[in-house]
Amino acid sequence: MQSSTPRVRVLYDEAAIARRIEDLAQEVVASKPENLLVVAVLKGSFMFAADLIRALHRAGLEPQVEFVHLSSYRSGTVSSGQVTILRDVESDVVGRDVLLVDDILESGRTVVFAKDLLMARGASRVLTAVLLEKPGKRAVTIDADFVGFTCPDVFVVGYGMDVAHSFRQLPFVGVVDYLDKEPDLFGGT
Ligand code: IMP
Ligand code: MG
Repeated sequence: MQSSTPRVRVLYDEAAIARRIEDLAQEVVASKPENLLVVAVLKGSFMFAADLIRALHRAGLEPQVEFVHLSSYRSGTVSSGQVTILRDVESDVVGRDVLLVDDILESGRTVVFAKDLLMARGASRVLTAVLLEKPGKRAVTIDADFVGFTCPDVFVVGYGMDVAHSFRQLPFVGVVDYLDKEPDLFGGT
């Protein structure tokens, strides 16, 4: 029987995420970014971006911060394949190093779309940071420059990520138990 308050099984807990983000910040520093603009892809990356930006500050960087709201998930958990801009960045990116921050690299379409857009607008470099990557799911060729964790092929929630607008508030990344048991409905394997 499906529970009305499903249990979320922890995949990456708060402490593991926090540790990994400090390391990611050091990796970003090592890439020697100039005139850095962080562009967080809403909504899913808001928590990751907030923690990464503060880690970048602790690591000695002074990034400016921007947001772009993109949508590629229009029906349930199945990607439509089409990326649309719901809210654009306001800053000029010409000649700047941009760090694009997203929650998950799956088909790669979202990150490729945003990266191409920012490069076409004249950014010097667009580096990409994702909290999670799901290997073997790429529909387009892209590797993130900075990856938090390589994630199993399950639908994850929490730490900013949702299913049907729920679970974004969780401080950890997890798997909803009842979702996991209905792979056809949620597009899993
Ligand atoms: P891509 O364009 O296929 O790489 O899709 C990436 C986007 O799909 C991410 O930015 C997420 O918003 C969403 N997404 C992909 N997998 C998951 C998941 O397991 N949980 C929540 N959102 C996901
Ligand atoms: Mg997203």
